[in-house]
Amino acid sequence: MTNSAQYNIKAIRNDFPILGREIFGKPLVYLDNGASTQHPVQVINAVKDLYEQNYSNVHRGVHTLSQESSELYDNARVKVRGFINAACVHEVVFTSGTTESINLVAQSYARPRLQEGDEILITHMEHHSNIVPWQMVCEQTGATLKVIPISDSGELEMDQFHAMLSEKTKLVSVVQVSNALGTVNPVKEIIDAAHAIDVPVMVDGAQAIPHMPVDVQALDADFYVFSGHKIYGPTGIGVLYGKEKLLNAMPPYQGGGDMILSVSFEKTIYNQLPYKFEAGTPNIAGVVGLGAAIDYVNSIGLSTIAAHEHGLLMYATSKLQAIDGLRIIGEAEQKAGLISFVLDAVHPHDIGTMLDGEGVAVRAGHHCAQPVMERFKVPATARASFAMYNTFQEIDVLAEAIRKTIGMFS
Ligand code: ALA
Repeated sequence: MTNSAQYNIKAIRNDFPILGREIFGKPLVYLDNGASTQHPVQVINAVKDLYEQNYSNVHRGVHTLSQESSELYDNARVKVRGFINAACVHEVVFTSGTTESINLVAQSYARPRLQEGDEILITHMEHHSNIVPWQMVCEQTGATLKVIPISDSGELEMDQFHAMLSEKTKLVSVVQVSNALGTVNPVKEIIDAAHAIDVPVMVDGAQAIPHMPVDVQALDADFYVFSGHKIYGPTGIGVLYGKEKLLNAMPPYQGGGDMILSVSFEKTIYNQLPYKFEAGTPNIAGVVGLGAAIDYVNSIGLSTIAAHEHGLLMYATSKLQAIDGLRIIGEAEQKAGLISFVLDAVHPHDIGTMLDGEGVAVRAGHHCAQPVMERFKVPATARASFAMYNTFQEIDVLAEAIRKTIGMFS
């Protein structure tokens, strides 16, 4: 448990206006952060100020507003670079989110390089967004998708991974933190093993980026992707980090404005990185909001946040384990702050509805990870996922609401 001198939870909560809401007359207990986090005033105001003071299109005008917008937009890229420690700013490409980033790599990096007999390696705990783009590219090229199995505790079977890695493997794409299980995968070990046979690795960092410091150079990740809305930023904005050498060798994903240096009907010359991959007017407010979210997270410190969330995870795990008829799905040794669970007597959707009645927001469903549900032989789970603003008292409310739900259904 982090001590309150280090961690001013009251001040943090005051920064998030929505946390003051009541749901059905009860204080909101927001535990659906894995789906999307809430926004501090610092992010809301950055977007508001942009629209009220500085907004225009970027990289297209000589007038003051366009210059100001462009500067805010470009500064946010500098912030993202620092946040993930990319070697240079043009290795940071803005996309609409993790999903688009993965599709971009699948189509621009993998598709031109794949042929029949080649293999893409993913894991059994991927979100659909790190499965379907690879199935599509395998259909397009004749390559094969291979899946690293997971154990009953929800950990990757690393011996299987090492055995599956071969000269046929052309890319490994792996989630750093499972959105359905909370498992933190040993991505550094995976990257080192893949690199030993010159196989590049993409890391899906959507659920990792708000919970732990990420250093893409220390990881030596070839691609690293995440979304703004999981880290207290706006929706519709995400990041593709790619090593310069790889991004330079890839064709654009989409054609349009800003991704070109010159266009004629005979020949178009593409723009340099990162603009080559940012066709059309970008999500300017999303980028500015993401920059503000990164400033906010930095002002508290990811290690501090991680320690607080770990405390919440430990506390919630022991509280929930003590409830008869509750089974936690995903008991890896290394977990980030989320707990998936099922109840003997209650369908997860009913759990979600009942908890909502108590003011507690959790996600219920397959979490866009149907293979995980199939692996654990459950149709769905309820999932409580934590953020920097959650409290130990909120875990008590969750546990009490679950007990009440069981009581109603038994
Ligand atoms: N991928 C998001 C989640 O896990 C939506 O809930």
